[in-house]
Amino acid sequence: MPLFLLGWIGWGFCGALVALCAQVPFTPPQHGGSLTTKTSAFTPKTMLEIPLIGETVANPSGTFAAVFVSRLDLDTDKLRFDVFVPLNADADIPSYELAIASDGNAFWYDDLTLVIAIRNSTSRTTTLYAHYVSPEVSILEPGELIGTLPTDSASNFQFSPAAQALVFSDYVYPDGDLSKTVENERAWMERKDTALMFDGSTFTRIMDKYTSPRRPSLFTMRVTVDWDGRWRLVDEYINLLADTGHHVLVEGTLDGKQAFHVSDYLVVYTTKDPTLPEALHTKADVYVVDIFARAPPRELTSGRHGATSGPVFSPDGRRIAWLEDAVDGRESSENYIVMHDLEKNEKSVLLRNWDRSPNQLSFSSDGAYLYIVAPDMARIKIFVYPLLQLPSDSLVPKPVTHEGVVSRLQSLPGNRLLFKRQTMANPGDLFILEGLLDVKKAHARQLTDLSRDSLRHIEKPERTEFFFKGAAGRRVHGFTVKPAGWTVEASRNRTWPVALIIHGGPEYFEGDMWNTHTHPYTFAHRGYFFIAINPTGSISFGKELTEAINGDWGGDPFKDLRIGFKQALQIHPEIDSERAVAVGGSYGGYAINWIQSNPEFGFNFKALVCLAGIFDLHNFAYTIDLNYFMNYEWTGKPWEKNVLKKFAEQSPSSFVHKWSTPQLIFHGDIDFRVPVTEGIAAFSALQQRGVPSRLIIFKEESHGWRKPHNLLIYYDEMFRWLDFYVNSTSTAF
Ligand SMILES: *[C@@H]1O[C@H](CO)[C@@H](O)[C@H](O)[C@H]1NC(C)=O
Ligand SMILES: *[C@@H]1O[C@H](CO)[C@@H](O)[C@H](O)[C@H]1NC(C)=O
Ligand SMILES: *[C@@H]1O[C@H](CO)[C@@H](O)[C@H](O)[C@H]1NC(C)=O
Repeated sequence: MPLFLLGWIGWGFCGALVALCAQVPFTPPQHGGSLTTKTSAFTPKTMLEIPLIGETVANPSGTFAAVFVSRLDLDTDKLRFDVFVPLNADADIPSYELAIASDGNAFWYDDLTLVIAIRNSTSRTTTLYAHYVSPEVSILEPGELIGTLPTDSASNFQFSPAAQALVFSDYVYPDGDLSKTVENERAWMERKDTALMFDGSTFTRIMDKYTSPRRPSLFTMRVTVDWDGRWRLVDEYINLLADTGHHVLVEGTLDGKQAFHVSDYLVVYTTKDPTLPEALHTKADVYVVDIFARAPPRELTSGRHGATSGPVFSPDGRRIAWLEDAVDGRESSENYIVMHDLEKNEKSVLLRNWDRSPNQLSFSSDGAYLYIVAPDMARIKIFVYPLLQLPSDSLVPKPVTHEGVVSRLQSLPGNRLLFKRQTMANPGDLFILEGLLDVKKAHARQLTDLSRDSLRHIEKPERTEFFFKGAAGRRVHGFTVKPAGWTVEASRNRTWPVALIIHGGPEYFEGDMWNTHTHPYTFAHRGYFFIAINPTGSISFGKELTEAINGDWGGDPFKDLRIGFKQALQIHPEIDSERAVAVGGSYGGYAINWIQSNPEFGFNFKALVCLAGIFDLHNFAYTIDLNYFMNYEWTGKPWEKNVLKKFAEQSPSSFVHKWSTPQLIFHGDIDFRVPVTEGIAAFSALQQRGVPSRLIIFKEESHGWRKPHNLLIYYDEMFRWLDFYVNSTSTAF
C-alpha cells in the first residue's frame, strides 16, 4: 500500500509501563495544564497532544505489560514519558510510573525484571537498564545500568529465556560487524566526495532516504544473571545473517517486530530474495536460523511467490506460520497463510480462498487457534481460526473485534490476547481479549484510556455509513461525519459546506481510524460535512473491488466517487452542494488532479487540496522509489504500447487545458514515493493556466508530515483556503 500518506508516528516513543490489571482503564496523570482544555472544539492541536501508545511488551506470564507512551506539549515541543499497569482483572495492583528521557525499547528478562533500552544519540550508544517490578511498589526504582550496545539504532528486542539470548535488529555495513557500525558510518558520512553509486540491483532510494551500504540485520547477544545476581552481558554480537546477502525486512509500513520471531533456540525471519533485483520484485523468503548461528539459515519457502511477512512460531516451537502473497511484484498483498511443521518438514496452506488479506498472525497460547488481523469493511479486525479441525473452505475465520483498527497483537497465557486499537474517536488504547475458547463469549476489556482527559469536553460528531451500487454494479461503501453542532432541528433551518475526502493507496481505505492528515473531526468541528467513499481499488471489501483498479486509476473509481457523493447529497439535503470542496493525498492527490482534468464529472467543487499527488503517470512510473509498483498497477512496463496509451489517457498532465478550479498543493521535499516534482509540476500547470493556486513545500518531510508544527500549518492553511472558497464568490484568495 505504498501510495497513502504515512500517519504521524510520534517523534520517537517515550517510555511508559502499564501493568495490565485495572478494572478501570488506566489514565495517565496530568502534567501541567495543557491537556485539560475546557473548550469543546476539536482542533489539530487537540489531536496532536493526546498521548500515544508506542512499544508495548507483556511479561512471559502476562501479568504486566511495559507500555511506552509519548506525550507532546506543542508549546514547548517537549515529549514526556510515563509508565505502567497490571494485566489481571482481579489483581489489585497499582499503576507504575517511570519517566524516561528519550526513545526506548524494552524486553522482559523474566516476569518481574524489565529491561529498557535507551538510545543516546550523542554517544551513539544504547544503554540497557534493568527495572525490578514488585507488586508492593508503585514507583519504579531508577533502573540498574546493566550494559551498553555499540549503536543508537538497535530495536525490535526479543528475548529467549531458554537460550538466555537477546535478539534484535540493527544496521551494519557490508563487513557485518555491529561494533564497527558507528565507525563505518562516520567514515561514510565524512568521505571527501558525496557520490552515491548504484549498480542496478538495489533501490536508489526509499521513502525519505537514498540507499546506502548500511542495511538492517539480526543480532544475538547473550544476557545472563549470575548466581550472585550480577548481570553478565557478553559484548559479542552474533550477526545471524552474516554472509547470506539477507536483510531482515524491519522497514516498511508494518511493525518491525513482525519481520522476525524468536522461539527457544531458533529465529525465523523474512528477507528479500537476494538473487533478484530488489527494486523490481517483492518476492521475500522465510528462513529459520539457530539463535547463535551455529548453522547457516535454512529456507522454508520454495517455488514461486511474492512477498512474505509476519512469521511466528507456535508456542511449542514446532510450527511456524507466515503470510504469503502468490504474486511477485504486487505491493498491496493478497495474503494467504502458510503453516510449516518443522519436525515433519511439511507445509500446508490455509485460507487461500478467503476474501480478506491478513496482515498479522499470532498463535493462541494453547496452540489451538490462530489470531488473524485483517482489514474488513473499513476496519481492521481480529479474527479467530481453529487449527485442530481439518481445513475446509467452509471454515472461515470469525471476527472477535468489530470496530476500529487493530494492531500490535501479543498472545498471552490462558488464551488471552493483548492488542492496541484505534478508532475515529481515539488514537489508540490497549485492550485485552478474554474468553476466546468460545468465540461468542470472547470480549475485549479496555486497559488504557489515554484520550479521556483530552476529549472529555469534545463533541464527537456523528458518523453514518452507507452502501451504493457503484461501477460495474459493485457494492461500494462510504461514510459521512456530520458537522459539530448538527441537530435535526438545526438541519431544517440551515445548510453546511461539504468536503469529499479521497484516500490514498489506491489499495487502502478510509474508515474507523485515527487519520492524522484528514481527521474527520477537524472538518466536522470546522463546520463541514465530511464525506469519504471507498471506491474501486479500496481494500477490506474483497479482492474483486481491489483488483478492479488495475490499469484503470482514472476510470471506475471516479464512477464510484460520483455516484457516492451524489447519494450523500441526497441523503442530506442540508448540505449546500454549491459549497463543496475536495481533499486527497497520494493516490487521492492524483484523484484531485484528475478531477481538475475532468470538469465533465460535474462535481462542481469550489476549491481543491492536493497532498503529495501524482501529476504525470508516465514520469512517475520511472521515478517512484518502488519500481515494481506501477508495473503491477498498470499490468505492464511503462514503455509498452498499451501502457503508454493508458498513461496518456489517464494522466492529469494530458488535460491541463481543462484545469480551472482553485487548488492548494502540499508536498514534502524529500518525498521519494511521489517525488516533489509532481507537486511542483501541478503548481506550474495551475499558474500558467491562471488558476488561483498555492504551493506549500515542507522541507525535510517525506510522504506525510511528521513534524507536529508542520501538521498545524498544514491544517491552518488548508482550512484558510477551503473556508475562503466556500464562503466567498471571489476567486482571488
Ligand atoms: C549521552 O551521552 C553523552 C556523551 O557520552 C553523555 O554526556 C550524556 O549524559 C548521555 N545522556 C544520557 C541521557 O545518558
Ligand atoms: C429556525 O428558524 C426559525 C425561524 O427563523 C426560528 O424561530 C427557530 O428558532 C430556528 N430553530 C433553530 C433550531 O435554530
Ligand atoms: C467560512 O466558513 C467556515 C466553514 O463554514 C466557517 O467556519 C467560517 O467562520 C467562515 N468564515 C467567514 C469569514 O465567513
